[in-house]
Amino acid sequence: MSPLLESYTMGDIELANRVVMAPMTRCRAKTTNPDAQTELYYRQRAGAGLIISEGTQISAEGTGYLYTPGIYTPEQIRGWTQVTSAVHEEGGKMFAQLWHVGRMSHTSLHQGQPPVSSVAVAAKDSNCYAYGENGEPGPVPASQPRALATEEVARITANFVTAGVQAIAAGFDGVEIHGANGYIFDQFANGALNTRTDQYGGSTMNRLRFTLETVDALASKIGSTRVGIRLSPFGRLYDMQPFDDEENTWLTLARELSARNLAYVHLSDQTAFTSLGISREFLGSFRDAYNGTLILTGALDQDTGEELIELGLTDLAGYGRPFVSNPDLVERFRNGWPLSPIDMTTLYTGGEKGYADYPSYAEQVESTPVESD
Ligand SMILES: Cc1cc2nc3c(=O)[nH]c(=O)nc-3n(C[C@H](O)[C@H](O)[C@H](O)COP(=O)(O)O)c2cc1C
Repeated sequence: MSPLLESYTMGDIELANRVVMAPMTRCRAKTTNPDAQTELYYRQRAGAGLIISEGTQISAEGTGYLYTPGIYTPEQIRGWTQVTSAVHEEGGKMFAQLWHVGRMSHTSLHQGQPPVSSVAVAAKDSNCYAYGENGEPGPVPASQPRALATEEVARITANFVTAGVQAIAAGFDGVEIHGANGYIFDQFANGALNTRTDQYGGSTMNRLRFTLETVDALASKIGSTRVGIRLSPFGRLYDMQPFDDEENTWLTLARELSARNLAYVHLSDQTAFTSLGISREFLGSFRDAYNGTLILTGALDQDTGEELIELGLTDLAGYGRPFVSNPDLVERFRNGWPLSPIDMTTLYTGGEKGYADYPSYAEQVESTPVESD
């Protein structure tokens, strides 16, 4: 049997297989509330061993893109409860990705106020999705942020904890801290950007302090085995520049997380999006430094997912884009059925097209006219 199809025990959570649906923002939440379409979309994909939700804001302050969902109001929590019930009905498991974008935001989303970050430096050549000068929604350059005061950092940690508690109340099996892809935790960890002189800047451990304080605070409230974290070592998205002790920073974090008995660490390999990503050599070093469940996502196909599991370099294999256009991805892997191509033009457009309307393979075959001679 393909190792991807084997069941896997992740702490006290049983996964039906080792295929993970990676978190994907789809900008379908007009009102920031998950709705019936969201429920259908995730229900269709519940064949994954584990679904990780799209990035979900922990607070209004954490928002950087219009039409993305949150988990800080009663309506949002009600919406997510419908989604998790649907996924559980289908036998799936689901974690919520908890998101604060930090500086990847725009003043029009914050009543004219700047977004927050480790330092007051804007991300160059990086767009968020907000209101342009004409008041119309669209891609706009990320605004100049303000640096968080030392005592404010704890407030953001507290917002993560509240969101985590609410996610569990909404029926999620756990939460994934979005520590990847240039967002708020990356903005603290990155030594080229973070020039703070307080306990959240400078040394490696200082730059990791905010991340570890948030992990610990969440773990103490909802249990460490309900907490996962996503990281993107060597990720260059959103103006994350190289820095001196880059490899050491990620391996230090790996060792720190190892001691904490988490649900998992999820590595986001950006090779498909930027020139640099996670080499196999680095993956091996990370694996040695981190002794818990590891997920790797980024440009994997069935063969590379199987190979990495067989080599022991990852426990679970994450798939993003393949899940957009193949709701029944696991069944396609199981049966060797071909994958449907993704429509990149409808990824973030809102509306029904390109969201929950991709057919399963069985539906595809049914709707194909039989040729007669
Ligand atoms: C449409 C889209 C939205 C995404 N949104 C998120 C997100 O909300 N959070 C996140 O951590 N990564 C996000 N990603 C990155 C994916 O989780 C994944 O790492 C990436 O697509 C590479 O995996 P793939 O090659 O299997 O698609 C997104 C990717 C895509 C294509």
